[in-house]
Amino acid sequence: MTPVKQKPAARIDKVNIPSDTFRELGHALVDQIAGLFERLPTAPVTAATNDEKIREMLQALNPASDNGQDAGPLLEKTTRLLFDHSLFNGHPKFWGYITSSPTPIGVLADMLAAAVNPNVGAYVLSPVATEIEKQTIDWIGRFMGYPAGGGLLVSGGNMANYVGFLAALRAATGTEAREKGLRNIDANLVVYCSSETHTWVQKAADLYGLGTDNIRWIGTDAKKRMNPVLLEEEIQADKAAGNQPFLVIGTAGSVGVGAVDPLDDLAALCEKYGLWFHIDGAYGGFASALPELKAQFAGLEKADSLAVDPHKWLYAPLEAGCALVKNPRHLTDTFSYHPTYFNFEHTRLNFIDYGPQNSRGFRALKVWLSAQHLGMEGHRQLIREDIALARYASDVLRAEPDFEVFSTELSISAFRYVPPALNAKIGEPETESYLNQLNQAILNQMEASGAFFMSNAVLDGKFVLRMCIVNFRTSAADIEAIPAYVRELGALIHKQKSQ
Ligand SMILES: Cc1ncc(COP(=O)(O)O)c(C=O)c1O
Repeated sequence: MTPVKQKPAARIDKVNIPSDTFRELGHALVDQIAGLFERLPTAPVTAATNDEKIREMLQALNPASDNGQDAGPLLEKTTRLLFDHSLFNGHPKFWGYITSSPTPIGVLADMLAAAVNPNVGAYVLSPVATEIEKQTIDWIGRFMGYPAGGGLLVSGGNMANYVGFLAALRAATGTEAREKGLRNIDANLVVYCSSETHTWVQKAADLYGLGTDNIRWIGTDAKKRMNPVLLEEEIQADKAAGNQPFLVIGTAGSVGVGAVDPLDDLAALCEKYGLWFHIDGAYGGFASALPELKAQFAGLEKADSLAVDPHKWLYAPLEAGCALVKNPRHLTDTFSYHPTYFNFEHTRLNFIDYGPQNSRGFRALKVWLSAQHLGMEGHRQLIREDIALARYASDVLRAEPDFEVFSTELSISAFRYVPPALNAKIGEPETESYLNQLNQAILNQMEASGAFFMSNAVLDGKFVLRMCIVNFRTSAADIEAIPAYVRELGALIHKQKSQ
């Protein structure tokens, strides 16, 4: 018998914060967070700190020390750092890109999820969490009236769209392509989407080896919705040229102006030509839950796969995206492998078989808790209110002589400031170029000021300010404050530029 040599020394204990201290620190942190939520409406959207200053402050908090620090002061310093120097998308006047305010219950849910820390890749590692994710997927499908046979939560819209894209590719090319690679498929695979489609599609075409040249960008109508006549012409042209169409991507709420493609028409063409129909509903998909918008989203229920983003219009804290499919077999055909080290029963639901991730966090909890906290009608009402506020913003701005409103779709309003002296010259190339520069400068200074945060769109060559309200804190008063602020800033920049 080999003698046991030496018992290892007792483990360092520092990592295990004693429970009394943990309670104290946790309570203090929750108090600080509650204070932040209270202060948000009167605080700036962002503190005007420059990059250099942030790096300087971080020098003093550099983690590269040998001996570590006490958790209490460390948490306190870090909370102050983040509260004083972050940009808050939970601020009532944050309307940039498509990023929502996080629900307070979602914030608590993330803490709870981290404490239990289930690995939601396999049922045996996360029995309750797996069932909760399954219920969440069912709830999301039911909320939108999409007959989801399966799906899973992922990090965001891009990932959810990649899941749908790869499922489509697998359905078109079969397991042979999985084993031998696409280069052994004797076909030039092509994909169709509107020219307004989010950049995830280029990344997907590249990641999966199709190449971005095999994306056919289909033209749109005046409201930026895909033109189905042009789509059919492109499909026919590709077939005649010997290419293999396999996927049509419809967008339900474009990132630019919130356009919803004619989904029913796209579904009909997919049916006619035997193509996979994927919908990117990362932003707008959840608006299909509103009875008053059902007609606009008709056809959504026909998609083979659908990407949505709970961290947009369900207000989940980042990150939470969701990929849904009608037939879950398409996901297992795409993602399931059974290495010998997995001791997982295949009759149980193991999310590892349905998506690209191996270890998976408990993202579902924040969505599930919010769904229960607000109920379907609560969620519908929040979306409805955001849409009403965006329409109100367009109305308020349209009533002012020095603003030009371009579009109002879902909860996005797009407009620009036009100095009164230039009103008569709108459309002249020199004026247009000047207005682009002026509105770009307005946006940059507005962002830096912390008064409001918007982003932009470029519509037919015109640089416009774009506000997207996915924010349960925004009120009508916040909207009413826009014209005076933008006018004052715009007039000042115009004066400086004219000197
Ligand atoms: C239509 C659309 N698709 C995809 C995405 C990407 O989503 P995410 O940023 O969650 O990856 C966005 C983001 O705004 C979007 O608006």
